[in-house]
Amino acid sequence: MSGAEDDRRPLTKLAQAGRKAEWTGMPGQPGGIVSPSVWRASTILYDDVAHLRRAAGSSTHERLFYGRKGTPTAWSLADALTEMEPGAAGTMLFPSGVAAVSCALMAVLRPGDQLLMVDSAYDPTRAFCEQALKPFGVETVYYDPTVGAGIADLLTERTRAIFLESPGSLTFEVQDVPAIVAAAKDRGVVTLIDNTWATPLFFPALGHGVDISILACTKYIVGHSDVMIGSVTANEAWFPKVRQMAYLFGQMTSPDDAWLTSRGLRTLGVRLRQHQEGALAVARWLADQPDVARVLHPALPGSPGHDLWARDFSGSSGLFSFVLKGGDEAARAALIDGLAHFGIGYSWGGFESLALPVDPARYRSATTWEAEGPAVRLHIGLEDPADLIADLDAGLARFRAARG
Ligand SMILES: Cc1ncc(COP(=O)(O)O)c(C=O)c1O
Repeated sequence: MSGAEDDRRPLTKLAQAGRKAEWTGMPGQPGGIVSPSVWRASTILYDDVAHLRRAAGSSTHERLFYGRKGTPTAWSLADALTEMEPGAAGTMLFPSGVAAVSCALMAVLRPGDQLLMVDSAYDPTRAFCEQALKPFGVETVYYDPTVGAGIADLLTERTRAIFLESPGSLTFEVQDVPAIVAAAKDRGVVTLIDNTWATPLFFPALGHGVDISILACTKYIVGHSDVMIGSVTANEAWFPKVRQMAYLFGQMTSPDDAWLTSRGLRTLGVRLRQHQEGALAVARWLADQPDVARVLHPALPGSPGHDLWARDFSGSSGLFSFVLKGGDEAARAALIDGLAHFGIGYSWGGFESLALPVDPARYRSATTWEAEGPAVRLHIGLEDPADLIADLDAGLARFRAARG
């Protein structure tokens, strides 16, 4: 594409990105198909030994070389994700969001380094720090998600990287990304963010100065709860390192999964708009209910970091939590178990609504989680919010009855 592509708005990019002519057409023939097909491959055949030697000696990124380095199906998805992030130099794909997080961390950290990790990080990210990085000689220091510019006070000679997740898992604190990035740049510290909640559509992280943006594409990019996949998108300074680490660890995704993910990406805009609308309707209704102590939704005034969300984000997605007033585990289960329109299960970002009991106190070390009662995380799918609200209304009645 020409320089004019920089002017395209994100929704236009979603429709066009990753559709290079060489992946959708036949050499020497006019026209082509709309989307790159599924190219399955392990072996790539060469014309002769000289050709094979040339291929081995050259940079093999986005060239047919061997199946593990991808085929046009994966390159198309990776390019599309890169196009969605102004400031990005490239994207690598991984078999899950967790694989993307761990490989991105391995790309930047060395034994002896210190990592600053947000205290509201997704639990398996914390587990990677404790169970893989620690034995590797990297010390993780957890920080308060509301620290903002105060992060500067935590930086030491050994601080190599700051990991952000905004909003945070389970409790949805929005971080002051520009302030943290400014402090990091001042000291030559690399920043990484788990941007799964907002996606580049609502928060283009590299455009806000973050070096490395990680997505569990399993959620909104796929959008249909049927593929596990992750991505790491990085700027010019860090993309070569991320790519090298992904190759060394043999990380890749299957062509079929990449193709399904590309298909999901095309409708991300309309789906997110609907998730946003439905979630806001449900969250606002919950905020008015006498049995609900708090709703943790970044777009609701009073939610932690709401002002930062309003300043930096262009939308909100379908995942948030609420805290019940009083009650115990059994009363919370009474609410969740009888829901007709919400599945009970991990993950989120699909077209279907989900409800999950969550206990954030278990996953905090730099801060404490204190609440008026048990908490529930909801993912609001694409159903009619009126049906979801009626379902939750009946659930709150069950909660009241069980709470006594
Ligand atoms: C915020 C966040 N990051 C990363 C992941 C991990 O993604 P995956 O399940 O694809 O490994 C999840 C999964 O729930 C998540 O919620």
